[in-house]
Amino acid sequence: MSLSLQHVAFRFAGRPILSDFSFDMAPGEHSLLIGASGSGKSTLVNLVCGLLTPDSGSISIGGESMTGQSTSKRDDLRRRRIGLVFQTLRLVSALDITGNLLLAQRLVGGTGGTERVAMLIDRLGLSHRTHALPRQLSQGEAQRAAIARALIGQPDLIIADEPTSALDHANMEKVITLLRDCAREAGSSLLIVTHDDRLRAHIESVRAIGAMTPQAAA
Ligand SMILES: Nc1ncnc2c1ncn2[C@@H]1O[C@H](COP(=O)(O)OP(=O)(O)OP(=O)(O)O)[C@@H](O)[C@H]1O
Ligand SMILES: [Mg+2]
Repeated sequence: MSLSLQHVAFRFAGRPILSDFSFDMAPGEHSLLIGASGSGKSTLVNLVCGLLTPDSGSISIGGESMTGQSTSKRDDLRRRRIGLVFQTLRLVSALDITGNLLLAQRLVGGTGGTERVAMLIDRLGLSHRTHALPRQLSQGEAQRAAIARALIGQPDLIIADEPTSALDHANMEKVITLLRDCAREAGSSLLIVTHDDRLRAHIESVRAIGAMTPQAAA
């Protein structure tokens, strides 16, 4: 599914974070946006997901406009088409992995029930941790659970915010391979935003974000 950002500008409290930012992705493309900490990567993810609205410019997903829509239309578009792997994992601490995935499935109106949840848990190598609570997971396991959560609704576009920067080399390679394989199997587009330079070797299309750093803009 295509993604298009045209001349997007966004400020926090008058401070420019993104200025005239344009970016396109073709359906099924895997793309990496690299930028330093504070360059506006998570802000960009929130804009694409419709959790923030740009001051100017337009964003569309699979030909559907995210900008100029009501909050409920944006929520609907995000739920139907985007799977987010959050920078902070955002698993519900009182629920085990299975419970977290069932809840996420209900929230996005996903199909497949417990069978799809079990399939994803198995696919992501978490079968031995089905009933573990988030705090009982290793960092690599928690990251994989967050990926399973993002994939539950079979999204057209998977967006991962900093999925690997906290991981050692072996887990970094596992997670990036998993993200790419899952996206390819589902025919989804994959957008990764990160300051982890190690990922450059793993994704063909690499773009920089933050040519205008907050410091330079101040
Ligand atoms: N709610 C907010 N109010 C004001 N400024 C904010 C807010 N959220 C983020 N910022 C600022 O916007 C800039 C971009 O933040 P953002 O979180 O998008 O960066 P990032 O590239 O994701 O960084 P990191 O790699 O550390 O995750 C930063 O300078 C940050 O301090
Ligand atoms: Mg961030």
